[in-house]
Amino acid sequence: MHLLSVGSLGSLVFLFATVLRQASSLETVVGMYGQTLEIPCNKGVVKAEDVLITKWKYDKGDRRVGDLLVRTKTESVSIIATDEYKDRINMAANSSLLLSAAKLSDQRTFTCMVVLSLDINEYPVNVVVYKAPAGVEISDKAPELEIGKPTKLATCVAKDANPAANITWLKNNKPLVDGGKGVSIRASVQVDPVTGLSSTSSTLEYSATKEDADAQFSCSARHQVGKELTSPELTFTITYSTETIILQVIAPEPLLEGDNVTLKCVADGNPAPTSFNFHLKGDVIPVKNTNTYTLAHVSRDTTGEYQCSLIDNPAMMASKNVTVNYLDINLSPTGNVIKTAGEALELSFQIDSSGESKVSWTKDNVKLDKEPKFNKLKYSDSGFYEGEVKMGALRRKASFDLVVEGAPVIKQLSKHRSEDGQHKVLICEAEGSPKPSVSWSINGTSYDESPFVNGKVTHKITVVPAVNLTVYCTVSNEYGVDTRDINVSSLFEEVRVDKRDQSDDADQTKLVVGVVVGLLIAAMVIGLAYGIYQKKSKQGSWKTGEKENGSSEEERKLEEKVEENSQKAEV
Ligand SMILES: *[C@@H]1O[C@H](CO)[C@@H](O)[C@H](O)[C@H]1NC(C)=O
Ligand SMILES: *[C@@H]1O[C@H](CO)[C@@H](O)[C@H](O)[C@H]1NC(C)=O
Ligand SMILES: *[C@@H]1O[C@H](CO)[C@@H](O)[C@H](O)[C@H]1NC(C)=O
Ligand SMILES: *[C@@H]1O[C@H](CO)[C@@H](O)[C@H](O)[C@H]1NC(C)=O
Ligand SMILES: *[C@@H]1O[C@H](CO)[C@@H](O)[C@H](O)[C@H]1NC(C)=O
Repeated sequence: MHLLSVGSLGSLVFLFATVLRQASSLETVVGMYGQTLEIPCNKGVVKAEDVLITKWKYDKGDRRVGDLLVRTKTESVSIIATDEYKDRINMAANSSLLLSAAKLSDQRTFTCMVVLSLDINEYPVNVVVYKAPAGVEISDKAPELEIGKPTKLATCVAKDANPAANITWLKNNKPLVDGGKGVSIRASVQVDPVTGLSSTSSTLEYSATKEDADAQFSCSARHQVGKELTSPELTFTITYSTETIILQVIAPEPLLEGDNVTLKCVADGNPAPTSFNFHLKGDVIPVKNTNTYTLAHVSRDTTGEYQCSLIDNPAMMASKNVTVNYLDINLSPTGNVIKTAGEALELSFQIDSSGESKVSWTKDNVKLDKEPKFNKLKYSDSGFYEGEVKMGALRRKASFDLVVEGAPVIKQLSKHRSEDGQHKVLICEAEGSPKPSVSWSINGTSYDESPFVNGKVTHKITVVPAVNLTVYCTVSNEYGVDTRDINVSSLFEEVRVDKRDQSDDADQTKLVVGVVVGLLIAAMVIGLAYGIYQKKSKQGSWKTGEKENGSSEEERKLEEKVEENSQKAEV
C-alpha cells in the first residue's frame, strides 16, 4: 500500500517531468517541399549512451498517434509504420528523423521518445514545409490602355507556393498601392486540392494617363524563402481621343500678296486623327491622310478667319485669323517736276494699307518734320523729295525731283567803299533759275561770284570810278532779264571840286578804269583843285550828296583822309 503510494508518487513525478520537458522543448523545424527533412531529436540534451530506446511517432490528429520507427541500443532501426510514411522515413545515427520528399501534409508534430534506464522523455517537434513559387506568370495582358478608362492591365500569378506568395505590382519599379490614384488590385489565392500548394493571382486594374505612354509595368512575388521573383516588364500603347486641336498658319512674315499660306491642323490623340475638315470662309474642304491645306498666291481678300476640325468629331475645332499685308502708295507728282517760282504745287500721297502706316519725308536725304507743302514755290524748294511709308516690316518709297525755275530778279544792288578808299565794290544779288548770268555796264578790276544756291547768286565787282556814273547790273536766263542801276560817285570828285560838272551828266557814262589812269587824272585834278583852293581859301568842307551804303562813321573817316591827302598835295 505504502509502496504503491510511493510508486504512485514516483509515476506522478515522472508524468510532471515529462510534461515539463515536452513543454520546454517544443520546437519548429522548417523543411523544404520535396526535399529530405531532418527532424532532430533533443538536440544532444540526452547522451546517446544513456539511451535504451529511441522511438519516433507522429500526431495523427484527433488525439491519435502514429508510430514511425524505433531503435534499441542493441538492434538497428526498425520501421514500424505501415502507412504512407513507411517508405519515406529513416533515422540518422544522432537519432534525427529523416523524412524524404517532404509534403505539406507533413506539417504536423513529430515526437521523439527517448527511453532511459530510469526515465522516458518525449521531444515533440513541429514541422513546417515551405515552398517558394515556381515563378511569376503574366496573363491576360491588355492590348492597349485608353486614357482615363480603368482597364484590366494584366493578371500576375505566382504558382504553387507555401505559404501563399505576396504579389506586388510595380510601375517604373515603384510599387502601386491598391486604392492609389487609378489603381485597383484584386488578389486571390487558390489551393491545389492535391498538393495543398497555394497559387496567388493578382489582377491590376489601371486608369492610364498620358504620361504612361512609356511606363513599364511588372509584378513581383515575395515569399518567406527564395529570392524575389519579378515578371518581365510590360509596356502598353496608350490610346486617347483628341483633347486639343490647334490650327497653325505657316506663312512668310510679313505675309504679302502672292505668297503661299499653309494651314496645318495639329491634333493630339493616340492614334492621332488623320482626316480633317478645313473651313475656308464658308467652304468646307475635307482632307485625308494629311493635316495641311495650302492657299496659293494669297491676295488681300484672303484675309479672314479660318478653321479646322476633326471629321469624326466636328466639335473639336481650332480657329486662326490670317492677315495678308499690303501697302500700296501713289504719289503725285513723281519723277522730274519743273515748276515756275511763285506757282503752287499740289501733292497727293495716297496710301492703301492693311494696317496702320507711318509716313516720313526727306528732302535731299535730310529728314523733314512734315509733308512738304508748296503754296508758292520758291527757288529754295528745289530738291529731291522722297516719301517713305512704313507698316511693320513693309516699306514703300516714292519720290519726285523738283526744279523751281523762273526769270531772274535782282534782289539787291549795293555799293561799298573799300576800306582803303581806293575803290568801290558793287554787289548785285539776283534770284532765278536756271542760274542767271550777271553782266555789268562797266568793267571792274576784279570779279567775284558766289556759288548758285537755292536760286541765288551774288556777283561782286571792284571798280575805281573816275566820274559820277550810273552802273547797271543785268541778270538773265532763258526765262527773262532784269536790270537795275545804281549811282556811283567818282572817287576823285572831292578834289576836282568842279561845280560845273555837277549837272554835266554827259561824262557819267564814261569810266576811267585802272589805278594808273585814275592816278593820272587824280594828279591833274589835284593840280587844278590846288589853284581853286588858293582862291577859295579854306573851303575844305564838302559833302557827297549821294547816299552810300557804308556807315556814316566810315564815311567821315574817309573824308578826313581825303582832306588830309589834299592838304599834303597842297604843300
Ligand atoms: C545528425 O546527423 C545528420 C547526418 O547524419 C546530420 O546532417 C545532422 O546535422 C545531425 N544533427 C545533429 C543535431 O547533430
Ligand atoms: C479673328 O478676328 C475676329 C475679328 O477681329 C475676332 O472676332 C476673332 O476672335 C479672331 N479670331 C481669332 C482666332 O483670333
Ligand atoms: C570793257 O573792256 C573791254 C575790253 O577789255 C572793252 O571791249 C569794253 O568796251 C569795256 N567796256 C566798258 C563798258 O568800258
Ligand atoms: C541817279 O542820278 C540821276 C540824276 O543824276 C537821278 O535821276 C537818278 O534817279 C539817280 N538814280 C538812283 C538810282 O539814285
Ligand atoms: C558827283 O555827284 C556828287 C553828288 O552826287 C556831286 O557833289 C559832285 O559834284 C558830282 N561830280 C561831278 C563831277 O559831277
